[in-house]
Amino acid sequence: MLKNMIITIDGPAGSGKSTSAKLIARRLGFTYLDTGAMYRAITYLALKNNALNDLNEIIRLSENSKIDLSFIDGITKVTLNGEDVTSEIRSLEVNSNVSEVSAIPEVRKALVHMQQAIGDNNNIVAEGRDTGTTVFPKADVKIFLIASLVERAKRRLREFQEKGEDVSFQEIELNLSKRDKIDSQRVVSPLKKASDAIEIDTSNISIDEQVELILDKISEIAKLKGFDILLLKEVKS
Ligand code: DC
Repeated sequence: MLKNMIITIDGPAGSGKSTSAKLIARRLGFTYLDTGAMYRAITYLALKNNALNDLNEIIRLSENSKIDLSFIDGITKVTLNGEDVTSEIRSLEVNSNVSEVSAIPEVRKALVHMQQAIGDNNNIVAEGRDTGTTVFPKADVKIFLIASLVERAKRRLREFQEKGEDVSFQEIELNLSKRDKIDSQRVVSPLKKASDAIEIDTSNISIDEQVELILDKISEIAKLKGFDILLLKEVKS
């Protein structure tokens, strides 16, 4: 039997990774792996335990936590040591601290291990910063999405507004540029395009166009590599 197929989608916050990765996983019937949700879960736990300034404690938490991801009704449901933290991990407080936590090498080691275990036997669409470089360096299809800072901030502002949260455009823009800087300058697994990744600029294209473009690339590569994929009909959420 042919091995399982691994697709990675990396890029900075707001580049359209999550939205496209979810839709693509659904169209292919693959498992969606949201690696950012795992870093967010550990950041939430560190905040909750007042451990943000205690490096050893953050590492201990990452090595001893059980994170379960399930994808229900278009949302990644995140269970952390039995507690549903799905909405808590998307707070501004977590946003502001997640880059520091995810720059800790031991935390990355623990979480990359969990991510690779998920990719062992499943057809997956993994999404993050280093899924094509570190987590799955031998992935079958690697996509790297980029978009301008202004466009990414506009998208995040819309998300917060939809949740009824009062955040300014400037605050979001600043948070994104800070995270970009930390994510791309950290020593271990920085945000970086894999040399064999396909880069797509999403600044001026719609989500539907993005998804179709990526699916075209996946179909092309799947055919070349002998994977028998079947595109499921689009299901409106
Ligand atoms: O994709 P996201 O915004 O949910 O990711 C949250 C943070 O987690 C992001 O600022 C950087 C970090 N992250 C990472 O370092 N490596 C990954 N594979 C995914 C996310």
